[in-house]
Amino acid sequence: TYIVMDPCVKCKFMDCVEVCPVDCFYEGENFLAINPDECIDCGVCEPECPVDAIKPDTEDEGTKWLEINTKYAAIWPNISEKGTPPADREDFERETGKFEKYFS
Ligand code: SF4
Ligand code: F3S
Repeated sequence: TYIVMDPCVKCKFMDCVEVCPVDCFYEGENFLAINPDECIDCGVCEPECPVDAIKPDTEDEGTKWLEINTKYAAIWPNISEKGTPPADREDFERETGKFEKYFS
């Protein structure tokens, strides 16, 4: 499966949503999650993300992010169309460790 990782936090460009053929993205205030049970591993979302937040779960820290995506995809609403990204997203593009910092 593919998963959304730390660069998405507070950036949430949502370009990924537009291309997913099975609409398996789920939306939180600061982050999007992929439902790993619905993702068909097509990989088309990976190059669409401007901040490279989407990777296969075989990446470093993949297990941690797989758990995060699974948890939040189960409780957040499905998103199938791109909304308005946060106005201040560029301020957070180069920051790391955002999940720990901003997620409550
Ligand atoms: Fe959707 Fe394909 Fe990305 Fe999985 S890999 S989230 S199915 S676009
Ligand atoms: Fe996040 Fe990138 Fe999608 S910032 S919302 S994973 S396009």
